[in-house]
Amino acid sequence: MDQATFIKQYATNRANTNSLKWDALDQRYGNPDLIAMWVADMEFKVPEAVTQAITERVAHGIYGYSYTPDSYYQAFFNWEQTRHGLTLQKDWLRFGSGVVNSLYALVNTFTKPGDGVLILTPVYYPFFNAIQDNHRQLVTSKLINDQGHYTIDFDDVAEKIRTNEVRLFIQCSPHNPVGRIWTEEEETRLLALCEQYHVLVISDEIHQDIELDPQNHPFISALSIADGRFQDRVIVVNAPSKTFNLACLLNSHVIIPNADLRARYDAAINRLSQTEVNVLGQTGGAAAYAHGAEWLDHILAIVRDNYAYLKSALAAHAPEIKVTDLQGTYLVWLDLRADVAPAATRAFIQDQCGLAVDYGEWFSPDYQGFVRLNLATDPKYVHRATDNIVRCLTALKNK
Ligand SMILES: Cc1ncc(COP(=O)(O)O)c(C=O)c1O
Repeated sequence: MDQATFIKQYATNRANTNSLKWDALDQRYGNPDLIAMWVADMEFKVPEAVTQAITERVAHGIYGYSYTPDSYYQAFFNWEQTRHGLTLQKDWLRFGSGVVNSLYALVNTFTKPGDGVLILTPVYYPFFNAIQDNHRQLVTSKLINDQGHYTIDFDDVAEKIRTNEVRLFIQCSPHNPVGRIWTEEEETRLLALCEQYHVLVISDEIHQDIELDPQNHPFISALSIADGRFQDRVIVVNAPSKTFNLACLLNSHVIIPNADLRARYDAAINRLSQTEVNVLGQTGGAAAYAHGAEWLDHILAIVRDNYAYLKSALAAHAPEIKVTDLQGTYLVWLDLRADVAPAATRAFIQDQCGLAVDYGEWFSPDYQGFVRLNLATDPKYVHRATDNIVRCLTALKNK
């Protein structure tokens, strides 16, 4: 199927579907007519096989207690093996109702109030919440920003770990919002530092499948780094939700290779609740892993084209705006500060450009003047958003 046909078949108007991204614009931004480029989900219907599997399950008409069938494990493990060369074992895997929920549970299980928990900023804002809502000490190490290319400040990471009694590091890999896929070298250094200082690692790998140039920037799970050397001190959280646009089917994974950590996690979870699996989430997830590869390749091609459109338009008309190298995730991060005063960003983006975006300061207070745009959408929205930014910037500069 060519790209135009794919877009025609799968791109959908989401208005009036209780979509947070589109139907809550008035409530969240005070303007229902903005182009929604914020929440990290897509304007594309899920793979046909997923719709079919869920439709069949719904036609059965019974949603009694369920368990995870072997076919789910097979489809997921086969996906991880073929796509990322990662071999998983059934007893390592636990299910959750969302990665953020699991981050909260993991912070509670593996740290005490007051313990230091490290994150690399700017980063997906629920990382801050999971730490601060639980009264742990937030420890941040700022990524180095070289003209929109972000790298880890290893000396600062080591210093922060040493001076703050850090017990846990939550990493984002690939990194939302700066679009990096960490290299094996970077990950090895980072995980070795955590090993040296006895810091447990939670690796949020929900964006693992959004690799835009896998030849040059392949995603490598923290469980695979250095041939699995760090498996005993890493817990991975991931899900089919970002990859296949299934967020509200509330089915996610917690992967814990180490038996002692797993026992602690199970004991902590059992104290709080009995976890039932989400039958539609697992039905959709299994079908997606088994049959969704071709669909995903179309999505990645669209994201690549959307990124190329935005990047080349800004390079031609507003070269002073810094656009991240988009290696992973479908979220592009723009630094507008050369043209727009940071405090005026919101007025510029919303009132002039007509866009609903994620603002930089949501990802770290010192990133006012940056915005994050979601590119996993119908190209018509990216074209309009880009053209609006170029037009409004030109008007601003000519004032
Ligand atoms: C890094 C990261 N983790 C977690 C999530 C959300 O996961 P969930 O919806 O499963 O809680 C997102 C969504 O954007 C994300 O970017």
